[in-house]
Amino acid sequence: MTTADDVVTDRAARRRFATLGRSVALFRAFLVEQTDPDRFYGLLAADSVRQVSGYTALTGRTLLDVGGGPGYFAAAFRAAGARYVGLDPDVGDFSAVGESVAGMLRGSGTALPVRSASVDIAFSSNVLEHVSEPQRMLDEMVRVTRPGGVLFVSFTPWLSPWGGHETAPWHYLGGDRARRRYQRRMGRPPKNRYRETLFPVSISDALRWARGNGEVEVLDALPRYHPWWGRWVVQVPGVREVVAWNFVLVLRRTGHEPGSLAGKTQLTGGRVAM
Ligand SMILES: C[S@@+](CC[C@H](N)C(=O)[O-])C[C@H]1O[C@@H](n2cnc3c(N)ncnc32)[C@H](O)[C@@H]1O
Repeated sequence: MTTADDVVTDRAARRRFATLGRSVALFRAFLVEQTDPDRFYGLLAADSVRQVSGYTALTGRTLLDVGGGPGYFAAAFRAAGARYVGLDPDVGDFSAVGESVAGMLRGSGTALPVRSASVDIAFSSNVLEHVSEPQRMLDEMVRVTRPGGVLFVSFTPWLSPWGGHETAPWHYLGGDRARRRYQRRMGRPPKNRYRETLFPVSISDALRWARGNGEVEVLDALPRYHPWWGRWVVQVPGVREVVAWNFVLVLRRTGHEPGSLAGKTQLTGGRVAM
């Protein structure tokens, strides 16, 4: 069932999607992320398509993937009928699965090279914690989404068991200490360096930002990989930062939608990655 602005309101479908079997499959794939990235990222991308389609139609919709990474999401969203545009500051990421770089933008989520109100769906998976100004990135995603459009943003909270990424679980003793320990043990710095390429973000901060932003309405806030009956964890301040593992904020851009804008959205500006 969809409303005029395509926000999907079928909660039963979301429940059918978020099964325990799905959570187990994702976790198993996550365990081999380093050795078999195709399996993990392929599954994550397909899962994301299904999850996003629980909130909005995808066919013919322009979707901007902020921090799109290596191309798995491009293939999955395009297969679902979306007009996918990936954006990433690291152009090398686009070719990791042999994906063509056409239609990709090079840029930062904190200064999107995209016209205001020009996309139907602003999507970002596991990027916010890698950005030094997360609220600025969120504001930018709101700016480029048309009224009635949907924002889907997920991130790993700092206090999650995976908050420190490859330095986890030592980040619980402090990000600097975890980083030094990794360097000592591995003889090289971690890819995700505390306060350089990895920043402490929290669910509480994200919710506070969303509720204080007059241009969005919160459609949902949930632990991304949990089965539907585990959703309650996001209602418990403090606890949620640890047990949600990964958090998703689903928002609807409010405001008036100019007549036929949805059918002719256009991305402009920025350099298309070469
Ligand atoms: C952990 S990867 C996530 C990739 C993909 N979205 C996924 O879910 O698998 C983080 C991505 O964020 C990108 N990134 C880092 N800083 C960024 C920024 N300021 N703006 C947009 N993307 C950024 C990185 O280049 C990288 O591709």
